[in-house]
Amino acid sequence: MTSQAKNSSSVDHATSLSQRIAAHTARISIVGQGYVGLPLAVEFAQAGFPVTGLDTDPDRVATLASGRSPVRDVPSEQLQALLRAGRYNATTEPAILAESDAVIICVPTPLRKSKDPDISYVVAASKEAATRFRPGQLIILESTTYPGTTEELLLPLFQANGARVGEDVFLAFSPERIDPGNPTFKVKDIPKVVGGVTPACTRLAAALYGEIVPRVHQVSTPKVAELAKLYENVFRNVNIALANEFSLMCRYLGVDSREVIDAAATKPFGFMPFYPGPGIGGHCIPVDPLYLSWTMRLNGYEARFISLADDINRAMPAHVLTIVTEALNEVGRALKGTRILVLGVAYKRGIGDTRESPAFEIIASLRRKGAQVSYADPYVPTFLVDGTELKAVEPTQAELREAECVLILTDHPEFDYGAVARHGRLIVDTRHSVPEITDGRRRLVRL
Ligand SMILES: NC(=O)c1ccc[n+]([C@@H]2O[C@H](COP(=O)([O-])OP(=O)(O)OC[C@H]3O[C@@H](n4cnc5c(N)ncnc54)[C@H](O)[C@@H]3O)[C@@H](O)[C@H]2O)c1
Repeated sequence: MTSQAKNSSSVDHATSLSQRIAAHTARISIVGQGYVGLPLAVEFAQAGFPVTGLDTDPDRVATLASGRSPVRDVPSEQLQALLRAGRYNATTEPAILAESDAVIICVPTPLRKSKDPDISYVVAASKEAATRFRPGQLIILESTTYPGTTEELLLPLFQANGARVGEDVFLAFSPERIDPGNPTFKVKDIPKVVGGVTPACTRLAAALYGEIVPRVHQVSTPKVAELAKLYENVFRNVNIALANEFSLMCRYLGVDSREVIDAAATKPFGFMPFYPGPGIGGHCIPVDPLYLSWTMRLNGYEARFISLADDINRAMPAHVLTIVTEALNEVGRALKGTRILVLGVAYKRGIGDTRESPAFEIIASLRRKGAQVSYADPYVPTFLVDGTELKAVEPTQAELREAECVLILTDHPEFDYGAVARHGRLIVDTRHSVPEITDGRRRLVRL
């Protein structure tokens, strides 16, 4: 092919793709229909694009196809309306990728047992797309990953299938920043960061997201975009670790850490409050920083902040166990045989996601020490700990009264904290959600 013919074909691909994006006729496939992929698919479908959600889990696809949303941030009624309008459908069939103008990959990026990145889902999804590559496609990776993934791992897969980046395939990284359960900031409210392999890749990816979000911030390379996401989550992880360690120091000094943090937070600049808790959880904050420290280790550099924050946060469940044990000792009770009601097992308030939740370790340790543990969580009907399935109870007055210790791990808005304060005998509150107790017969211990 002459360079003139090559240039004109790349201009054609880029032009026709940008025209289809502007007209909202570009066919979009979103690979992975979980917490990230489904809300994104719905947002594009809502904007009028024809969208297919591709997932390897047939149960999930059947649920979606029947109009039931497994993700709380997406109401089933909204999904049903989009299915009826023919703007959204779900499938397990990867053949759809060949028919797509844009493919957005939102598959999991967990850790292996060794705490190294498990990139196998990204590789599998990318191979599916690369083997079905059709000239003129825009491919975007959204999964959080180590710096270099887009150019070092995805790009060669497409090149091996004959694709020429920036000419007949357009490849970019754009991190997902959604915060599940956050009613204020949804997909459409959060600016997107986009870094393409070439300027044309960046432009096309930015044009696509520009149709659904208020602002797109373009960066020079995919690696900058990959690192921006990791920096955001390292920032949270390190600051949560600081709040956690600070709360432990305050305990030694006999001071309520929340009172100190709230006082510091009155400074209108240069301070952002983070709050202590029983540990960190979810698919992102405990996991993503380790993707960066792994990369840095390969480069002969030890990411010390990340290691220290990880150590502190992972030690929090053991501190909670100590606090519960000491609080029971003070009222003359041992853990063994004591009834403990845990409020909240999801990793954060307002959602049912239990991935990496500190509740697993805390409940397992309490049970191993002989405590009789029950739990309440309006979002989590069953909870598997050490191979035993626990069923959620209602946190009724009777349950609160009968428990010798009420342990608050997740501050779901649905809990009646006034009732907890009135009926709980001993309350260990890791989230500072129970009001001050004046009744001398009850005891409140805060993290
Ligand atoms: N959950 C969050 O709050 C959040 C926020 C920002 C970024 N992220 C990142 O987004 C990515 C996805 O996270 P998630 O929480 O949506 O995960 P999830 O587990 O909720 O969903 C992932 C989905 O991908 C499917 N899947 C796995 N391999 C597949 C394949 N090869 N082809 C098609 N489907 C496949 C799974 O069946 C699952 O339904 C991760 O990299 C995560 O770090 C998550």
